[in-house]
Amino acid sequence: MSASIHESPQYSERSVRRYERIFGEDFLSTGGPETTHDICAGLNLQPGTRVLDVGSGIGGSAFYMSREFGCVVTGVDVLAPLVEIANNRAASKGIAGVRFLQGDILETDMPECGFDLVYSRDAMLHIEDKERLFNRLFSLLAPGGRIFISDYATGTGLLSTEFTDYIRDTGYFLRPIETYVSEIAAAGFVDVKGEDKTNLFVDILKREIERAESLPPNAEEGLSPEDCDYLVSRWTKKIGWCNSEQMKWGYFQARKPA
Ligand SMILES: C[S@@+](CC[C@H](N)C(=O)[O-])C[C@H]1O[C@@H](n2cnc3c(N)ncnc32)[C@H](O)[C@@H]1O
Repeated sequence: MSASIHESPQYSERSVRRYERIFGEDFLSTGGPETTHDICAGLNLQPGTRVLDVGSGIGGSAFYMSREFGCVVTGVDVLAPLVEIANNRAASKGIAGVRFLQGDILETDMPECGFDLVYSRDAMLHIEDKERLFNRLFSLLAPGGRIFISDYATGTGLLSTEFTDYIRDTGYFLRPIETYVSEIAAAGFVDVKGEDKTNLFVDILKREIERAESLPPNAEEGLSPEDCDYLVSRWTKKIGWCNSEQMKWGYFQARKPA
């Protein structure tokens, strides 16, 4: 994990408020409730499915999986303020089947083979040591258990200085989709699939820009003009990097042998 995530302004109170206005209530990642609904529909979730949500943020996916499918969800997130928000919201929304733990997924104490599904939305980009990460996820899954990950990736061609500066400044550790797939397989997973979802990502970014521009210009109900400018310029750059095949967004799925 990049130690600097604790000092980074990316998940400050202001930033979380800003993200949530764009992604949707309880979400800090691409597509918010919409992508979560579509992804979960394909995961064969059942009442009692034991889910580990890695980098659970402020809880949106965990709430959804518990409410809609009756899953039992453990969220782990390295940032204590986000874990506190998630636990408070679970209590105020009356959602019993979720719990949120503060910790680094590489180190948090959890039962081996204790989960049926490891699920993670746009969080693994923060973790440098992918070999250790995928070995850890493998050991946490029950035999026959599955992983679903959405994550940022890079293209396979040359990357511009502007894009590599962005990766460095955000503290991300990105690789091509194909490399990601090989790293998952190297941990012992089978049926490993990496899907390029960049077109969907760009469509969502465009809609999120429209949403940002349509919100009232105040920090109480909408976005301050500075927040709106920041989001629109950051999202526009991401669209440009995707169009030039430097930036990718992928879905990764795999299974631990039974
Ligand atoms: C872009 S946010 C996504 C949050 C949530 N998955 C969502 O979709 O709303 C990435 C999250 O990963 C968490 N994270 C980063 N490194 C982590 C680590 N090593 N262990 C656990 N969580 C981590 C961050 O604190 C942050 O909440």
